[in-house]
Amino acid sequence: MPRLILNGQAHDVPAGTLLLDALAATGSPVAQLCHDARLAPSGGCRLCLVAIDGQPLPQPACATRAEDGMVVHSHTPALEALRRSNLQLLAERYPASAMAAHPELPFHALLRQYRIQPGGNVAGNGFHDDSHPYIGVDMDRCIHCQRCLRICDEVQGQFVWAAWGRGEHTRIATAHGNSMLADGCVSCGACVDSCPSGALFDKPATAVQQWTRTTCGYCGVGCQMDVGSADGRVVAVRPAQHPVNRGHLCLKGRYGFEFNHAADRVTQPMIKQHGEWQPVGWDEALNFVANRLLAIRGQHGPDAIGVLGSARASNEENYLAQKFARVVIGSNNVDCCARVCHTPSAKALKTMLGTGAATNHFDDIEQARTLLLCGCNPTENHPVIGARIKQAVLHGARLVVIDPRRTELAAMADIHLAVRPGHNVPLLNAMAATLIEENLLDRDFIAARVTGYAELADF
Ligand code: SF4
Ligand code: SF4
Ligand code: FES
Repeated sequence: MPRLILNGQAHDVPAGTLLLDALAATGSPVAQLCHDARLAPSGGCRLCLVAIDGQPLPQPACATRAEDGMVVHSHTPALEALRRSNLQLLAERYPASAMAAHPELPFHALLRQYRIQPGGNVAGNGFHDDSHPYIGVDMDRCIHCQRCLRICDEVQGQFVWAAWGRGEHTRIATAHGNSMLADGCVSCGACVDSCPSGALFDKPATAVQQWTRTTCGYCGVGCQMDVGSADGRVVAVRPAQHPVNRGHLCLKGRYGFEFNHAADRVTQPMIKQHGEWQPVGWDEALNFVANRLLAIRGQHGPDAIGVLGSARASNEENYLAQKFARVVIGSNNVDCCARVCHTPSAKALKTMLGTGAATNHFDDIEQARTLLLCGCNPTENHPVIGARIKQAVLHGARLVVIDPRRTELAAMADIHLAVRPGHNVPLLNAMAATLIEENLLDRDFIAARVTGYAELADF
């Protein structure tokens, strides 16, 4: 573990720690604007420069890793003056009204910290796009940190943004000069979440009164997110930093929350009386259900009752539903629509690998040299994982897709096996036969970990 001297104090930090993180962890955070822990360091904003003994020039703390014996100074008068003048340059052309409207943004917090007022000399020629249903673009507020561009490339893999021009004339706009959507935006919201200046923003932007951490209910990835509410309504969603989704969401989780307030949604208990649904209180509804369940169980026994869980509920809620069925009702008639549609894969996984659930960690995606997708479309159905598969392919992993359709990932694949619908199993059998016939096998692995190999080889 490297030992550093940070501002005169010795600290041991894990190997590979960025100086930026080491300084933050030891109570001396430095200003930063272009850094996002999910992205490769760019060192572009020069705010986090620190002095390192023995180095002739200050170094960006966001791009420098701790080394044993380093002596680092982060807040000397010269460094603070440098930060102040860099911020002043950025603030010169920044609109003052934006700062008043959104004081919480990181750029605004830094301007307040360094007592800098925006100059307001807005060039007025920044890229604007009002056509996106969820995202507003006002590049007159852009400070050119390029986080939007980098996160769209390095996390979502859509390459929507580009930096045009050079030096102080750099402008951020869509890569082909069209609207965001026309240039490939899939509305993941990552560029909005990363932008520190408010040049990219959610619309409509409603003030959030309370944030609540929860799990996205749309698909099985299990992304963690913070739901913002105001006056009892869901008004915003932000991705949470979590190993599952690493601060990323897809269109569905990030912006698909209006259904919460759909006019035809059931929001209170109702009992059908004389053919019409009548709103009732919770006590009346629960008594009605309890009495009916007791009557059915008394007359026909507990097996006359079944409980159906929901794929839209969390694991914990479905666990409680089956517990209620077994312990309170006394019935093992428990099912869930996730099991119905997932039964073939669950059965096959359990037979072959011992459990009906996924046997790999999502992080294996980045470790794999080759990925084989069979009959799935992750960029549409599980987009946060689809984006990670895209990144793995962009970083050199080989991709084989078995699918009759030319999906987005099939179009990127090294090999697209466009089998006729229903021919996955013959194809997989043919692959197994070829592995055996051409002796492309890891026999030690098979001997140690595979049962039924002889039967398969005979088959
Ligand atoms: S919302 Fe997502 S896909 Fe669209 S531009 Fe931003 S990062 Fe790229
Ligand atoms: S739009 Fe925001 S994230 Fe993109 S370069 Fe400008 S300030 Fe940075
Ligand atoms: S945060 Fe380090 S250079 Fe921008």
